[in-house]
Amino acid sequence: MPTHGSRGVAVLAGLGGWLPPRVVDNDELSQRLDTSDEWIRTRTGIRRRHVVTADVSTVDMAVEAGGRALRSAGSQDVDALVLATATPDQVCPASAPQVASRLGLGGIAAFDVNAVCSGFVYALATAAGLIAAGAAQRVLLVGADAFTTLLNPDDRSTVPIFGDGAGAVVLRAGEQDELGAIGPFDLHSDGDLADLLIVPAGGAKQKKSANPDDHYFTMQGPAVFRHATARMAESSRTVMERAGWTVGDVDRFVGHQANIRILQATAKQLGLPADSLVVNIERTGNTSAASIPLAMVDGVKDGTLQAGDRVLVSAFGAGLTWGATALRWPAVTPG
Ligand code: UT7
Repeated sequence: MPTHGSRGVAVLAGLGGWLPPRVVDNDELSQRLDTSDEWIRTRTGIRRRHVVTADVSTVDMAVEAGGRALRSAGSQDVDALVLATATPDQVCPASAPQVASRLGLGGIAAFDVNAVCSGFVYALATAAGLIAAGAAQRVLLVGADAFTTLLNPDDRSTVPIFGDGAGAVVLRAGEQDELGAIGPFDLHSDGDLADLLIVPAGGAKQKKSANPDDHYFTMQGPAVFRHATARMAESSRTVMERAGWTVGDVDRFVGHQANIRILQATAKQLGLPADSLVVNIERTGNTSAASIPLAMVDGVKDGTLQAGDRVLVSAFGAGLTWGATALRWPAVTPG
């Protein structure tokens, strides 16, 4: 990795997202699972989701979203690529170098960050760290997950919730007082609760299990719901405090799109009005590491996110992992 002399604060300079073309709505799911459009809508806020087909992989989605973010930034010039994903194309190696090569960025530093649904916030901190250390001046950060590939297609407790997609941002070195300057951060984990959301087999500890269910993602939904709400609220409060913001200063809350009720409950715990939420879960489902940048893309497109807005960002996911950050929204047009 080239070492650059100047250091700075990471500033958001480009934004893009991509969803695979295949759309599955709640009615289609209801035809093959013991569920209903009404249950899914009222319990999660989701109406439809985009899913990968055999010809679309995490790398493919990351290339699409990354290319759009580079266009939005107006420059191909980046010196590192961080890919937040829990579903790399192969178990080994990381997928980021393949994304970099496909985007014509071969040669730059490229690596994956796996914090599952918190991946985007963790990767933002990682990318901001590269910039702060002077190790990079411009970073392409992509959150991409083909999470549906981890699911048991017959499991009604997970299939309705997840979708696939990719979202990306370009970060450049800048100054703390600029619009788009990212931070402060707050990041946490609790590995004691890893079993709440887990694919038990397929990793180094147990390559193959005699029980096929061990190769699928399992989730203890209600327990996860409670942790997600409490942790996102807690982390958001810490970030507000570090930023010197009161609740009244926050214009928008961009939270991980896991469940509309989690977002609403988090806003309520924080004392934020429900209309401060940036929400696109209705049409995407939970896209794991892609969910926050995809919500940002839709927020800009529908005018919910405006230049100058004070924005809180928070995520929660398997691990457990969670975290938050803040920024004043920059003038950025999704590519
Ligand atoms: O990114 C982080 C990852 N995941 C999350 O953040 C997920 C967090 N959890 C959740 O979002 C919610 O817990 C779920 C959406 C997963 C479930 O909603 P819930 O309100 O917590 O429902 P529940 O699991 O308590 O189940 C309530 C009822 C049960 O029936 P009984 O026992 O009351 O008769 C379930 O069997 O709903 C039933 N149920 C369903 N019914 C129709 C569970 N899944 C379904 C379904 N369709 N898909």
